[in-house]
Amino acid sequence: MPTANDVFDKVRGHERLEQLQAARAADLLPYFRRLEGPAGPVVEMEGAARIMLGSNNYLGLTGDPRVIAGARDALERYGTGLTGSRLLNGTLDLHLELERELADWMGTEDAIVFTTGHQANVGGLGTLLGPGDTVIADSADHASILDGCLLSRAKLRPFRHGRLDKLESQLQRAAAETGGEQDGGVLIVVDGVFSMEGDIAPLPEIAALAKAHGARLMVDEAHAAGVLGRRGAGAAELLGIEAAVDLRMGTFSKSLASCGGFLAGSAEVIDFLRVHSRAFLFTASGVPAAVGAALSALRIVRSAEGPDLFARVLGNAAYLNRGLRELGFDVVGAQPLPDDSSVTTPIVPVRVGDDWKAVLLWRALFDAGIYVNVALHPAVAPGSALLRTSVMATHDHATLDEALDGFARVKRDFEAEHGPLPAPR
Ligand SMILES: Cc1ncc(COP(=O)(O)O)c(C=O)c1O
Repeated sequence: MPTANDVFDKVRGHERLEQLQAARAADLLPYFRRLEGPAGPVVEMEGAARIMLGSNNYLGLTGDPRVIAGARDALERYGTGLTGSRLLNGTLDLHLELERELADWMGTEDAIVFTTGHQANVGGLGTLLGPGDTVIADSADHASILDGCLLSRAKLRPFRHGRLDKLESQLQRAAAETGGEQDGGVLIVVDGVFSMEGDIAPLPEIAALAKAHGARLMVDEAHAAGVLGRRGAGAAELLGIEAAVDLRMGTFSKSLASCGGFLAGSAEVIDFLRVHSRAFLFTASGVPAAVGAALSALRIVRSAEGPDLFARVLGNAAYLNRGLRELGFDVVGAQPLPDDSSVTTPIVPVRVGDDWKAVLLWRALFDAGIYVNVALHPAVAPGSALLRTSVMATHDHATLDEALDGFARVKRDFEAEHGPLPAPR
């Protein structure tokens, strides 16, 4: 007898369908907008110049002639693709150089390069964890971390974003449940900088809890590598706890101006992944141009130029953050550091709350020549919609001032029509 249900039924009746259709009909959909030129501080998008405040190109290196030359040289030398896995015909000298330099940068024994950052998380967590293990993850961790945890079939114990007391109780619960011969170990995994909220994980406290409970610690430095710390090695470097982190993850799709991802850690862990990680073994390796670009960008980050680029992007973040706050927007504030200083990460989220208000505000800004990202559930908690703005080292103050003028005009008109937006906390 044929089955009564069609597996495709869900595509006709999913919860987002009505919202999606209404947004499309009114041309309010903030997603899949077309870029028509390079991803610089001001972009050509759908027929107009727009100030780009929605990119992860934090250091602005996607347009750097040295990075473009790195991509072009690799393309000309090796061709357009490798048509095979790293295990077989897909490893270039460039991959090996990149892995050596990444390990050196992170201060670890070894590193492994994946085709995307998402695969680095899935391929790391999905391989190192297994049934019997427990993984404790911040509820705001990136989706790729969650995907890796789910794939592993380890017991997932999430804790409320940033809440150390909740983390500690999850560690206590995990300890009460494990310890037998059949039981596995415990891993804590957090973002160094959270991708939507822009806040920094309290890594010293998390590392101390991991140590006290005998757990391993992994930090996803996707938004922190190339930005935070003297070497730009991320939140663990900034907070002085690199030695306490067992595994560091990073991506090339942000400061390193390319596409790909990596894990850095002890030689035995990385070597284990090289022969066991299915997201590494059963996929084609990154195209030569992507690897060449990432290597060139990494060399710039590690050169004497690096600290100046980090200072510029962080300075721009503080400038935009202050400007938006002065205009009366509810922005996530500067992050306090243990030495009583503070830092504003390049992610400057504007809290809106309601999904439709966020979308309408996005459209008004788009029409005013400003592109920002809209984060709705499940990227953020339900009812916590935000406009995720972000800056690059290559924005100048004149451009940021122009954007702030646009925000001021849009806010005035928007509030007159739709009521007040959340005020600064
Ligand atoms: C925190 C975090 N981890 C991992 C990833 C995945 O990286 P990629 O986009 O390079 O695959 C991202 C990017 O969206 C991210 O924000």
